Amino acid sequence: MELGGYSGAMSDDDELDVELEARLEEAEEFEPPEAFVEQANVTDESIYEEFEENWPDAWERAADLLDWDEDYDQVLDDSEAPFYEWFTGGSLNASANCVDRHLDERGDEPAIEWVGELGEERTYTYEELHREVNEFAAVLREQGVEEDDVVTMYMPMIPELPIAMLACARIGAPHAVVFAGFSADALATRMNAADSEHLITCDGYYRRGDALEHLDKAEEGLEQVDQAVDTIVVDRLEDDFDHELGPNQSDYHDLLADQEGAEVEPVERDAEDMLFLMYTSGTTGKPKGVKHTTGGYLAYTAWTSHAVLDIKSEDTYWCSADIGWITGHSYIVYGPLALGTTSVMYEGTPDYPEKDRMWEIVDDHDVTQLYTAPTAIRAFMKWGQEYPDKHDLSSLRLLGTVGEPINPRAWKWYYKHIGNESCPVVDTWWQTETGGMMITTLPAVKNMKPGSAGPPLPGIDARIVDESGNEVDAGRAGYLTVNNPWPGMLRTLYKNDERFISEYWNEYSDPDEDEWIYFPEDGAKIDEDGYITVLGRVDDVINVSGHRLGTMEIESAIVGVSGVAEAAVVGGDHEMKGEAVYTYVITEDGYEGDEDLRQEIIESVEDSIGPIARPEAVVFTHELPKTRSGKIMRRLLEDIANGDDLGNTSTLRNPEVVEEIAEKVQGD
Ligand code: WT7
Repeated sequence: MELGGYSGAMSDDDELDVELEARLEEAEEFEPPEAFVEQANVTDESIYEEFEENWPDAWERAADLLDWDEDYDQVLDDSEAPFYEWFTGGSLNASANCVDRHLDERGDEPAIEWVGELGEERTYTYEELHREVNEFAAVLREQGVEEDDVVTMYMPMIPELPIAMLACARIGAPHAVVFAGFSADALATRMNAADSEHLITCDGYYRRGDALEHLDKAEEGLEQVDQAVDTIVVDRLEDDFDHELGPNQSDYHDLLADQEGAEVEPVERDAEDMLFLMYTSGTTGKPKGVKHTTGGYLAYTAWTSHAVLDIKSEDTYWCSADIGWITGHSYIVYGPLALGTTSVMYEGTPDYPEKDRMWEIVDDHDVTQLYTAPTAIRAFMKWGQEYPDKHDLSSLRLLGTVGEPINPRAWKWYYKHIGNESCPVVDTWWQTETGGMMITTLPAVKNMKPGSAGPPLPGIDARIVDESGNEVDAGRAGYLTVNNPWPGMLRTLYKNDERFISEYWNEYSDPDEDEWIYFPEDGAKIDEDGYITVLGRVDDVINVSGHRLGTMEIESAIVGVSGVAEAAVVGGDHEMKGEAVYTYVITEDGYEGDEDLRQEIIESVEDSIGPIARPEAVVFTHELPKTRSGKIMRRLLEDIANGDDLGNTSTLRNPEVVEEIAEKVQGD
């Protein structure tokens, strides 16, 4: 791991800035609104102590939110650490927990309220969800899907996606959802890595009112998949787009009709059996297949949905993320449905047809909790308060944010203009790997401090340390670590235990003492009250609009273009996206860094990852700034992208190139 990638927060000057900033932020604190506290799920501060004194058994509280087929014998088995196991000996089924067990009391209540891009709406009551999940589980069986077969889903935000996930869970087939915005290549890489022989996708979907083709992209991906694949296609666009099914392709609704009324007994899964795989970006070019299990993950997402999002079954809760990312898995599908609530799902973009789309949905559906991302909040702020002002948002009781640091200004705007100063805001830090929220305020218990996520949740031992692992003083920048396991944690990287250890457990652990410390690869600082402000990634991962992208993956897409000799990709600050992709490219002799090449580079990145990775800038240069030992100085390239002071560059092998590149960037 390269600590040099850290955007400067460890240097002396920045240290000072960080401290000043911290003091300013600490000046403001907001108490939990009284009306909220009166009705909250968790109100007693002693819960922190209880977890501390009674750890790990206190986690039974999370397991108690679920129905178990077989009780577990042990809360935590740490005998093979860091391959921890939770609720061992227990068995359950996630689909039964998210659907069947709510039928008696909530069968006629909505489980999913889906809002389409064109304004159409579809509601699935728990009864209806149960029916379709069962029928589709029968379809999967009929298609030869067996327990433990990985089923890939490459689908946008349509109800068939959570239905397919729950159907998989019902028969014990782990799902691997690939974000629909990812490219054909990205789909193929993931299907190959997971040896997946089943794909569920759709003909297309709507974006800004236009029908967008999707099946061609899926088919293009399949051409690069090594194994034979059976594909099920949902007809989302109906008459707006004709598609023909090829060999090994079947229509979702036809298959469903064949299984009308079918019931499939939920398969009893061991607590530690895999529920799903989720691929995410890391330091190297190869995406990591994060493995989550049935018992611990479901207990953890249900518990955090209850304690942090304050979800009750009669709520109408809305998380505006995409199910293609972990946020959607944990907090649109599994956590909320495990609690039997109504989960709103929106297909489209927040500014179509108008910039008040979100507020219209909140108003129409009487949404009680809204969980969104800082990048969206920055956009709302820019569009202006007249859009939320047009609507009655008084149904809202709690607001949440996730994905990247939120600056205090955006936080306050959200609190004031969306929450009317009467909804607590939970700024939740977590990751694909953690399965659920780790650091945030318990909304009825702790004061809020804009810009700081808050203290670690009860039972979570998060600390801020220096490079040698010693805890740093309040206000100083350091590295975030998690010193105790938790039920929602990833169990391993799919078929790669070694990489699991080297990615997360090598930096601060002491294997000889059997002491294991999880390293999330984020920088952070802590204040006197134990509130943690997460500063951002310290590895070669950048965060574009709350989406995690690996710079190595982007670099390898660029060096694949003929005429490119070398490339370096860094994240530069971006007003709306948080970070944007900056690429520095050296051309081969005989090639010119012209507009054509620039276009080819951009296309290659979009083809290998997707439009989200589209470079903000492509800077051609004849050299990259390197250390004497030949390492590219990424931090310097970040500073250049941000227009920051470049400081002393005299220790470089080629200091003269720095000014040259900086001039080019500023000229762009
Ligand atoms: C990375 C994880 C968690 C689901 C969405 C992203 C950053 C996430 C916060 C927050 C500051 C945050 C971190 C983390 N991050 N939430 N509240 N404050 N930073 O999941 O794609 O796995 O990315 O997102 O850098 O490591 P992910």
